[in-house]
Amino acid sequence: MTEHVTTALDAGILTVTLARPDKKNALTNAMYGVLADALQRAETDPAIRVVVLQGDGDSFTAGNDLADFAAQSQGLHKGERHVLRFLDGLARATRPLVAAVQGNAVGVGTTMLLHCDLVYVADTARLTTPFVNLALVPEAASSLLLPARIGYARAFAMFALGEAVDAATAVAIGLANAVVPQAELRARARAAAETLAKRPLGALAHTKALMRSTDAIRAQMDREGAIFQERLKSAEAREAFTAFAERRQPDFSKVTG
Ligand code: COA
Repeated sequence: MTEHVTTALDAGILTVTLARPDKKNALTNAMYGVLADALQRAETDPAIRVVVLQGDGDSFTAGNDLADFAAQSQGLHKGERHVLRFLDGLARATRPLVAAVQGNAVGVGTTMLLHCDLVYVADTARLTTPFVNLALVPEAASSLLLPARIGYARAFAMFALGEAVDAATAVAIGLANAVVPQAELRARARAAAETLAKRPLGALAHTKALMRSTDAIRAQMDREGAIFQERLKSAEAREAFTAFAERRQPDFSKVTG
């Protein structure tokens, strides 16, 4: 399934493209595997100075594949969960990460942006983190990073009400650097990456490390992950995933826990 994420290295820039547009770039375990490998490669390959994250089609990503979540909730998923490697890679990245975001960025589609150093959004961008309505909890250290970035009130409304943030608001509240017309989105992200690629890598890496506490981020990911795993198996989550598959709103009135 590696064709659902492509990578290309050119002039010091590793461009990682989510390429499953018919499913709004929803992320499967295999796709997380390729993303995790790309971040790992960026740390070890001296030819890579910057990583660009982008998505094909009308959405950046609809977040975790909900069929994968449903399988995990029923204990059907076997083998390594690459999402954990991907999140660890985001937490530990020393290379600058640049994101180009159009359309929907749901769940991890938004929370991964909190680990990107520059974020460009198309005017179509719509950032959402509807974890609570999926009976889940925030991940990717977003329970720490999102309130720190945009304030508790707005962060809670995003997590618990599923309130969407549009492109202009994303810039206004510090989730993104600039809004650009969709047709110019990739060129803008690429131009920023090219500038970063010319900067001294050591100074960039230290600057990034000074601005982020990897230990605190890792610790919060572990706290979130333990609860997230329990939540995935809850009756509430089963109702949420069944509702998505049946194209209806979930009804939590009869399920608890
Ligand atoms: N997991 C699996 N499949 C997904 C998906 C996801 N997270 N998001 C979208 N898809 C699939 C849909 O099932 C649909 O498949 P189909 O064509 O085989 O029926 C296809 O992608 C297109 O999605 P659709 O809902 O028709 O597109 P839309 O433009 O009306 O809405 C979204 C786009 C992203 C708003 C909507 O798909 C959505 O809310 N997805 C779920 C997002 C989510 O809750 N993610 C988890 C966050 S933790």
